[in-house]
Parts: sequence; C-alpha cells; structure tokens
Amino acid sequence: MSIVVLVTGGNNGIGLATCQLFAAQPNYHCIMASRSLEKGKKAIASIHSSSTKASSSISLVQLDVTSDTSIAAAVEDIRAKHGHLDVLVNNAGVCPMDFSRSVLRDCLETNAISPAMVTQAFAPLLLQSKGTPRLIYVSSQLGSIQMRGDPENVAYNEAYKTYRASKAALNMLAACDAWEYRGKVKVFAFCPGYVITDLAGQREDKEKAGIAKSPDESAKGLFTIAEGKRDGENGLFLHDEKPGELYPW
Ligand SMILES: NC(=O)c1ccc[n+]([C@@H]2O[C@H](COP(=O)([O-])OP(=O)(O)OC[C@H]3O[C@@H](n4cnc5c(N)ncnc54)[C@H](OP(=O)(O)O)[C@@H]3O)[C@@H](O)[C@H]2O)c1
Repeated sequence: MSIVVLVTGGNNGIGLATCQLFAAQPNYHCIMASRSLEKGKKAIASIHSSSTKASSSISLVQLDVTSDTSIAAAVEDIRAKHGHLDVLVNNAGVCPMDFSRSVLRDCLETNAISPAMVTQAFAPLLLQSKGTPRLIYVSSQLGSIQMRGDPENVAYNEAYKTYRASKAALNMLAACDAWEYRGKVKVFAFCPGYVITDLAGQREDKEKAGIAKSPDESAKGLFTIAEGKRDGENGLFLHDEKPGELYPW
C-alpha cells in the first residue's frame, strides 16, 4: 500500500519540488493541495512533463488553508479516496515585509492559525495510518527566538518582524502537537533553508546573491523526515537532511 502524503501550498516553490520528489517514489502517493485548482493542474502537468518516471503518483485537492469550508471538503475528499493519511506537510505560507495590525493578522492567519486548523482537521486521518504517521510544519530559522538574539546569525540585521512572529507561533504549535500526539504521531518543525522561490518577491535577489539553495534540496530534507530517518528528533526543530542538524527554538 502506498504511503499517502499531503503537501499544502503544493503548487509552487518548495511545496511543488516536494510533491515532485514524493510522486516519483514508487511507494508513495502524493496529494498536492493547492488553493487554486487551475494553478494546481498546471503544477501537476509540469511534474508529469519534467519527470523521467512516467509512474508519478500524484493527485490534486483544492485547499485554501484559511478556509474551514475548504479544509473540511479536502478532508472528506481524502477520507473517501484513501481512508487515511500517513504524512501531512504543512507548507503553505506567506512572508509579508510590512508591519501593521492587518498585515500581522493576515500573516498569523496563514502561517500559524491555518496550519493549526489543517492539522486538527486531518488528525483523525493521520491516526488511521497503518504505519508511523508524521506531521511536519515548514517553519523558518527566522521563527527561532534564540536565534533572533544571536549577532552571529545571518539574519541578525534583518527585520522580518511579522514573519518571525508567525513562525515563532508555528514552532510553539509544533512543540505542543509533539506533546499532544506523543506515542501516536511523530511531529517536526522544519526549516527548509534560504531557498530560491517566489516567497516575499525575493526570487531575483536570491538568484543574484548566489547563496540560496534550490527547492529540490529542501524537498530532500522533507523526504528524509517522511522516510523516518529523523524519528529520533521527534518534537524538535530540524533543518537540512542529516540527523543532528537542529535549530534552537
Ligand atoms: N523560500 C525560503 O527561503 C523559505 C525559508 C524558510 C521557510 N520557508 C517556508 O517554506 C514554505 C513554502 O514557501 P516557498 O518559499 O515555497 O514560497 P512560495 O513559492 O511563495 O510558495 C508558497 C505556497 O503557499 C501557498 N499559499 C499561500 N497562502 C495560501 C493559502 N491561504 N492557502 C493555500 N495555499 C497558500 C501558495 O499558493 P498560491 O500559489 O496560491 O499563492 C504557494 O503554493 C512557507 O511556509 C515558507 O514560510 C521558505
């Protein structure tokens, strides 16, 4: 039986690369969650056209993580088709640069409140997994309170106040879920690194800087977790691919 993985925000950037990697594995079925079905269909077509493996096992579900109606419909769709879920990757996110009441509220809504609600809605399906269910929150080192205060950190002189607050909240949710689902679901916060994507409209700057990595590399880190290779780090804040590569909260 295939390992069933759901990736939110799977139509672009890190989510797309992650869907592509999972879909290419013979023992996985990847469900790309996209808030726009049109974008999702295009993304799946791009996976099929670029994949050397004709057998890419991938399907699409509409999911706007900020909509409870959309979340409930996605849960029902996956319950009807698969009856369970083995891996949930809460990847969808935004990175606004401004700081105001409405911008902070929207960012917290997408990056923290929504993944919490997605997890709560999909938890019954995760608990139906016949293997070891795994729950991954795609966070950021910018969400680490300890690293915020470290002058040696590469992002020490960057503000990112709105985004940092949202990812710090997300990290706490991951830590709380690790406790809540202890013995039942392995839970991880994961920083994908500094990655060339459309996030915050910084693609060109990142390409020019030459220090950002490709989404494919982040996908490998997520795959390693899904494979159980980092189960010993359940409840912690991971980055990169190898056991021991951890960030402080
Ligand atoms: N890139 C980096 O350097 C970096 C570093 C650390 C952490 N991260 C984290 O990695 C994750 C993925 O980011 P990315 O860099 O791949 O950015 P991206 O290319 O901008 O992709 C973000 C994805 O999230 C989706 N999304 C946003 N709001 C949504 C909503 N309400 N419902 C459903 N989907 C929604 C987007 O969908 P649409 O196409 O519909 O907008 C898109 O598919 C985020 O959580 C981000 O914080 C990224």
